[in-house]
Amino acid sequence: MLIAPSVLASDFSQLGNEVKRVAAAGADWIHLDIMDGHFVPNITFGAPVVASIRNHTDKLFDVHLMLDEPLRYVPDFLKAGADLITFHIESQSDPKKTIAAIREGGAKAALSVKPGTPVEAVYPFLDDLYMVLVMTVEPGFGGQAFMEDMMPKVEALKKRKPQLMVEVDGGIGVQTIGVAARAGVDVCVAGTSVFRSPDAQQAIAELKAAAQNALR
Ligand code: DX5
Ligand code: ZN
Repeated sequence: MLIAPSVLASDFSQLGNEVKRVAAAGADWIHLDIMDGHFVPNITFGAPVVASIRNHTDKLFDVHLMLDEPLRYVPDFLKAGADLITFHIESQSDPKKTIAAIREGGAKAALSVKPGTPVEAVYPFLDDLYMVLVMTVEPGFGGQAFMEDMMPKVEALKKRKPQLMVEVDGGIGVQTIGVAARAGVDVCVAGTSVFRSPDAQQAIAELKAAAQNALR
């Protein structure tokens, strides 16, 4: 199980150090939540901030765009150093064009579904996707409860395309990661449970151990 700590739960006044801290603690990817105040009722940060933290780690940048018009901003995030760009099927941008823009820019493309969206909505695009992100909370805020009833979406995706990476985002901790692992999840985003823990290294190790134990 790969762990992608979400900097949404970090100390924003220390972003560079926070990213270095979780990278040294065993994070596999760095998850960056981009919110525009329209697609979700919250605002975070944009491409210049991503570019500034790019100098602090070589870890894969997993950029999660919660934007009404992701296609408009894809070039900015590519320039900022995004390795993987996820956008929402519920956004207003054309999925085919957006996936093409991401891939032509040299990044991996992913689509995400909100809890209320059937997973079948991304099926027409699976051939061109590296990953699908199944939201396990309503996007917008960290610290919400994990929605276990999203796991059938994960299972359906893994059945349909076994080599597809499937990520879940929201409410992941030692109590919930086992359920995700058993459903077939490859990558877990973890904000609160990593950044707000007193020891990030221990937190990541415990998450990975809990995922592994669940598969035994
Ligand atoms: C929610 C974000 C998540 C969030 C997860 O819209 O996409 O990445 O940071 O936070 P936790 O792990 O605290 O639920
Ligand atoms: Zn996210």
